[in-house]
Amino acid sequence: MTSLPAGAASAGSQLASADLPEAPGKALVVRVCGKCHGIGTFVRTRMSAQQWQAEVDDMVARGAVATAAEIRAIVDYLAANLRYGML
Ligand code: HEC
Repeated sequence: MTSLPAGAASAGSQLASADLPEAPGKALVVRVCGKCHGIGTFVRTRMSAQQWQAEVDDMVARGAVATAAEIRAIVDYLAANLRYGML
């Protein structure tokens, strides 16, 4: 569940703020979550899987549009790549 593609893990701190980590689901997150406020709103946010789930549910309540499968993929991406300890 936290597996990263080869090569994605090493850059570490260079990922600090500007962009989302390269990993499966990134394009989906950019498309769905970048719509209202851009990825800058959350690119530096670090949360647990549970917290991301709640956050994404909240965004859906605010009008984010995605299928159930897409929502799951988004939560998986966020939980794996924007988690505590990731810069
Ligand atoms: C329909 C519009 C919309 C979409 C799509 C959307 N958001 Fe938001 N989001 C908002 C609004 C409105 C706020 C609060 C005001 C602000 O910060 O711009 C917000 C704020 C946030 C915050 C700051 C904390 C908070 O709850 O206020 C985070 C983190 C966040 N969004 C993550 C996401 C993620 C992840 C996605 C993709 C699943 C997403 N957003 C998609 C409207 C949206």
